Amino acid sequence: MLEEKLHIPVMLREVIDYLALAPGKTIVDATAGTGGHSIEILKRITPGGRLIGIDRDENSLAVCRQRLEGCGGNYELLQANFADIDRVLEGLGIDRIDGIVFDLGISTFQMRDGARGFSFQQEGPLDMRMDQSSYISAYDLVNNLDEREISSMLWSFGQERWHNRIARLVVQERKNHPISTTGQLADLVVRAIPHRYRRSHYRIHPATRTFQAVRIAVNRELEILESSVRKAVGILKSGARICVISFHSLEDRVIKHTFRALKSEGLIDIITAKPMTPVASEVAANPSSRSSKFRAAERI
Ligand SMILES: C[S@@+](CC[C@H](N)C(=O)[O-])C[C@H]1O[C@@H](n2cnc3c(N)ncnc32)[C@H](O)[C@@H]1O
Repeated sequence: MLEEKLHIPVMLREVIDYLALAPGKTIVDATAGTGGHSIEILKRITPGGRLIGIDRDENSLAVCRQRLEGCGGNYELLQANFADIDRVLEGLGIDRIDGIVFDLGISTFQMRDGARGFSFQQEGPLDMRMDQSSYISAYDLVNNLDEREISSMLWSFGQERWHNRIARLVVQERKNHPISTTGQLADLVVRAIPHRYRRSHYRIHPATRTFQAVRIAVNRELEILESSVRKAVGILKSGARICVISFHSLEDRVIKHTFRALKSEGLIDIITAKPMTPVASEVAANPSSRSSKFRAAERI
């Protein structure tokens, strides 16, 4: 495994500190990915602890498995949606845990694999499914939703300013041929944006928001967040903690509101009054960490 393909774990120090790891604890990594957080968690709960790593993506879990093998310790890795966390733990005979971390979104390992279709920088099929056994891909949405639905998806999940123009061009273009690659979609987005805005108004690539929106829709990322956090809090022991790292304001907003609601229900204390962001040295070493936000809470 080439180290440079692996995802660099984001806000690792904060995750370790806020989970208050110690030997003997049972910790869930709800988004194990290629194991960046899992490895460091496992080291700190061994001996006597138990790590449960979950991910929707079998390819990432295979890498995680390889990396954890060398670490010793007690762990289980399972391909599952964290939305099913209650059933997953029930299946393992676990009813209470000492901590859980959610590191949302996708990893650079997934981004860099052109065949997965997540990135406008890699030519590949328009796929974007985290779980490759699921039915709906980016191709299906982009080629089948009607213009209004596409426009609404781009606005709701990407806050893309040019959502109407992009949706119109998608529908026009697919009359000639299906939009089947990442390159075709990225190119179309650039063409949909008025000339004078293509460069000057975008610090990021013009297709960034469209790709984010389609990915969120394909994987139904926002729909499951609140219920997943609620389920996680429901299985925390008293005094145990939940840590969540999000990567865009839509996710962070859901976490903020869910934490507030759980606090008013008397279930948690919020430990991070405001979301924490990575320290300057982390952003310098790993620029893709720059938009992450960290929130933590403790079960009452
Ligand atoms: C940012 S990466 C995590 C990286 C990991 N913490 C590390 O340090 O290597 C997010 C991971 O969460 C997974 N994921 C996203 N939504 C998920 C869900 N609903 N259920 C399970 N896994 C999910 C993705 O497949 C991806 O591997």
